Amino acid sequence: MGIRIAGIGRYVPEKVLTNHDLEQMVETSDQWIRERTGIVERHIAAPNESTSDLAYKAALDALNRAGISPEELDMVFVASASPDMLFPATGCLVQAKLGAKNAGCFDVEAACPGFVYGLELARGFLSLPHYKKVLVIGAETLSRITDWTDRNTCVLFGDGAGAAVLIKDDSNRGIIASYLKGNGKLGDLLYLPAGCAKMPASHETVDQRLHFIKMKGREVFKHAVVEMQTSALKALERAGLKPEDVDWLVPHQANIRIIEATYERLGLPREKVYINIDRYGNTSSASIPIALAEMDEKGLLKPGQIVVTVSFGAGFIYGANVIRW
Ligand code: COA
Repeated sequence: MGIRIAGIGRYVPEKVLTNHDLEQMVETSDQWIRERTGIVERHIAAPNESTSDLAYKAALDALNRAGISPEELDMVFVASASPDMLFPATGCLVQAKLGAKNAGCFDVEAACPGFVYGLELARGFLSLPHYKKVLVIGAETLSRITDWTDRNTCVLFGDGAGAAVLIKDDSNRGIIASYLKGNGKLGDLLYLPAGCAKMPASHETVDQRLHFIKMKGREVFKHAVVEMQTSALKALERAGLKPEDVDWLVPHQANIRIIEATYERLGLPREKVYINIDRYGNTSSASIPIALAEMDEKGLLKPGQIVVTVSFGAGFIYGANVIRW
């Protein structure tokens, strides 16, 4: 039995924010951002758009490409670090927008690796008898939780969504193996302090800008480089494969230097790595499905190819999937 991606789609908001725009907002330069991160521009949601809207549009794209109607779905879930609200889950808001009336719905909070975790979760559901079609979405409106006065973080993030419809069939295609791991002791490297049970919203939390992303960038960088390599290798080992068997590496798009270090450590050539960080920045859980959808649109993904997705993020968590496309 294969558990495979039958359709993959994406949506990014229209508005583009360039590095030159950011030069007008904080003390930074286009050159610094390009050289230190690889980012040139990112998309930003319109005031009337939020995560569920982006997720809905990416989901429609994925469903169209799969030739599957919303009513056929058994489960819908959204991986997001920037959901519309704490509850109801953004997955439920999207289920309603789609009219996926036969599906269960919920959210996964697994930060940037949310889609990698989501694919493995979908594989779990589809291994059970009663689930046949599952929609996994990675969607973010990070612009709403970004501190636009903090140059250490505001140059990095962007908004967007990607979605995949997974089905089971009797082909040998699909997710062959995954590796998911975490180190919760490193939670303070990247977090959003206020607005929930530990520190409810108050005038003080607003005044102290505690409703925005806080990050120790250099520390995140160091762990990311090591864990991206380890995760990809562990997932490949579980699949009985080696780096030389990989046709495409699709890494989380957080920083071009992390991506370069990852493929060099794995011994992969640049041509086997899909990179679009220049146009989107870090869209967290959406970065991998947006990349896969773009690759699919360009006809880069051929049946039978080995595709490895790998990600890291707040938690600290990391993971990889090995997919026979
Ligand atoms: N423009 C100009 N200068 C900036 C800047 C900006 N946008 N952001 C930081 N700087 C400055 C710093 O203040 C520092 O100045 P100082 O030496 O006078 O103190 C200098 O640049 C170097 O800062 P540093 O943090 O060492 O830079 P870096 O090379 O580590 O790059 C990041 C910073 C954030 C780009 C990099 O650490 C990174 O990408 N980390 C991973 C973050 C990530 O992936 N997060 C998401 C995880 S899913």
